Amino acid sequence: MEDNVRQAKKVMLSGIQPSGDLQLGNYLGAIRNWVARTEEFDNYYFMADMHTITVRQTPADLRRRTLEQLAIYIASGLDPEKNTLFIQSHVHQHAELGWVLNCYTMFGELSRMTQFKDKSARHKENINGGLFTYPALMAADILLYQPDFVPVGEDQKQHVELCRNIVQRFNGIYGDVFKMPEPYIPKAGARVMCLTEPDSKMSKSLPDGCVFVMEKPEDIARKFKRAVTDSDTERCVRYDPANKPGVSNLMTIYAAVTGKSYDEIETEFAGLGYGAFKPAVGEAVIETLRPIREEASRLIQDKAYLEGVYRAGAEKASYVAEKTLRKVYKKVGFVQR
Ligand code: TYM
Repeated sequence: MEDNVRQAKKVMLSGIQPSGDLQLGNYLGAIRNWVARTEEFDNYYFMADMHTITVRQTPADLRRRTLEQLAIYIASGLDPEKNTLFIQSHVHQHAELGWVLNCYTMFGELSRMTQFKDKSARHKENINGGLFTYPALMAADILLYQPDFVPVGEDQKQHVELCRNIVQRFNGIYGDVFKMPEPYIPKAGARVMCLTEPDSKMSKSLPDGCVFVMEKPEDIARKFKRAVTDSDTERCVRYDPANKPGVSNLMTIYAAVTGKSYDEIETEFAGLGYGAFKPAVGEAVIETLRPIREEASRLIQDKAYLEGVYRAGAEKASYVAEKTLRKVYKKVGFVQR
């Protein structure tokens, strides 16, 4: 096909906050799904560092985690040649479009966001404006790149829906400025639950029930051995999230890392009980994460390489972002310089 008639690739975009060390939920709910589609799409993946300061951070830790996150992206299979990998704060257009979109996002909409309600309950001493208006910045992160799909875990769907409302409102006033993005949620692993409290999602705020990508294999094994299973009498491996949330969550994790169906898992562990199942899930997770941890540990030592990647990423991202921002500024009536 001639270059000039070749269909442009569809665009995929997503980000993760470097607010804690990357965990299994981030990997299964997001990163793995990005890697799987890397050839088909034009991809933008970033470290959402600007979002993290809605909660107080230790500056040196934030810097370390941002670079470690980039190393994990690459180690997971995101080739910097095929994916634009960048740090959000390096692309100033995010803050600028974020401001504009704040003015097209309603107080009532922001008040309904689950993440705001959760975080403001957890950080009562610091319910700041950024925490509240965060979804408008997230909409800017997305819309600057006009993506077709936004691959996220289940918990971020509400923010992508709000972004869609903003698109509808903005385009309703100014015409076709933004492309309507679709959330893209994985079939297995969209909602990984905590190993110690299977009614809560896996997150760094419950560290005993959370498996970190860079964690030592022996620590991961221990966490799975101690994972809460259910107090039902049958003690068999069966998928039933309402009555057996602990075992069902382990089955979800096992299914996500092995590609097996729930039926296959039930057959594999028939008659073996939880005692055999829990370490098997731990082993499967350890083997999935091992090559990523090893490669990320190597990359993290190579500061010059990482710098080359994030600089090139910021340059490419800024170019695309600037085009969208110019268009928006013109539409809303700002005088062009
Ligand atoms: P964040 O940083 O909380 O999470 C990053 C990604 O990991 C997914 N995830 C999970 N998936 C399954 N099970 C879990 N237990 C689990 N925990 C986290 C999340 O769904 C997400 O996909 N606001 C976003 C970051 C962001 C963003 C964006 C995302 C900022 N701008 C633009 C997409 C597009 C956030 O806080 O995700």
